Amino acid sequence: MNTGLLQKLDAAFEQRFNAKPAVRVRAPGRVNLIGEHTDYNDGFVFPMAIDRACYMAARPRNDRKVRIYTLNLDKAGEVSLDDLTVHPSRGALWLNFIRAALHEMSAAGLAVTGADIAVCSDVPLGGGVSSSAAYESAIGLTLLAVAGVKEPPRAELARMMQRAETRATGVRCGIMDQFASLLSQQDHAILLDCRDLSYKQAPVKLNGHSFVIADTCAPRALAGSKYNERRGECEAAAKVLGVKSLRSASLAQLQAAESKMPANVFKRARHVVTEIARTQEAAVVFERGDLAAFGRLMDASHESLKNDYEASCRELDVLVAAARAIPGVLGSRLTGAGWGGCTVTLLRNDAVEKFQGDVTACYEQEIGRKPVIILTGAAQGALAL
Ligand code: GLA
Repeated sequence: MNTGLLQKLDAAFEQRFNAKPAVRVRAPGRVNLIGEHTDYNDGFVFPMAIDRACYMAARPRNDRKVRIYTLNLDKAGEVSLDDLTVHPSRGALWLNFIRAALHEMSAAGLAVTGADIAVCSDVPLGGGVSSSAAYESAIGLTLLAVAGVKEPPRAELARMMQRAETRATGVRCGIMDQFASLLSQQDHAILLDCRDLSYKQAPVKLNGHSFVIADTCAPRALAGSKYNERRGECEAAAKVLGVKSLRSASLAQLQAAESKMPANVFKRARHVVTEIARTQEAAVVFERGDLAAFGRLMDASHESLKNDYEASCRELDVLVAAARAIPGVLGSRLTGAGWGGCTVTLLRNDAVEKFQGDVTACYEQEIGRKPVIILTGAAQGALAL
């Protein structure tokens, strides 16, 4: 919990709205340990919530306005409950997220009302650790609390916020990020089966090891269009194979059909099919405490994302290579959608200091700017405070 940030948030709320907040919410970002681009293929993912979160302070209003002030951007905005249309070209994204979330909540029959909200986040924005899912989860819980509406099951709320993300950004994302932000438990990762949303909380027992996140701070201008393109390629592969989604395809089945699909479609599908298998295996070795095997699977995941899914980029590859050169690093990979964003590395605690120094120096030399390195445990999912 970032108590300093929370104090700043309270002060900003009081200054702007001349009252104390009635509701405070914290919703974390997430890091996906393994299982990338598998969620929208009905596969498995293995994320955990991180110690970075979006915080909101709010109070109800008795009209149909949602007024919001963001400390990150130092900007104020207003949304009307009577006009929730979202055009990706209309207005600021941070307000469109609110419109989209309100739209989905009303469509689900939740009686949302007006509110005054102040928001502040220490999740790196747009950087592969789900700053937007944290924001959406916070919006959802805040608006429910302000309206005094009983929370729907968290998985349903996650679905609503997944749809809100697509509505606001045009990206046909999967369920992982919103699910991880809303359903994570302290000191656990979630093995989520995206086919039916059944899940298992997996205790994170790292026995002298840590997960470290390194942010490329690279612009991700093309990430959304590439993401939708990959999703289309996966759907094309499933169609050729005659299956509902790639979850139902085996590697042998895919290989037998290689000549029936374009080479890039085959490669995308090979990543997905092997990544689903890696994620299941990773959850088994993780539970057993075999972190060396887990690290090898992380490495294999990165290679597959880089070569078959073509979701990496120079900045990510530089961070991964620099990490792997350090003794005590068990595995390193890009995390999240890719094309920029962050890497996640599993390493011995006594290697963390060297990691910080070497990875920063190497990245600066090759890319010409500093990465941001974040140490994190497995945090609690979203909560009203
Ligand atoms: C983004 C999406 C998720 C997931 C990942 C890739 O984070 O929001 O749904 O598809 O990319 O694994």
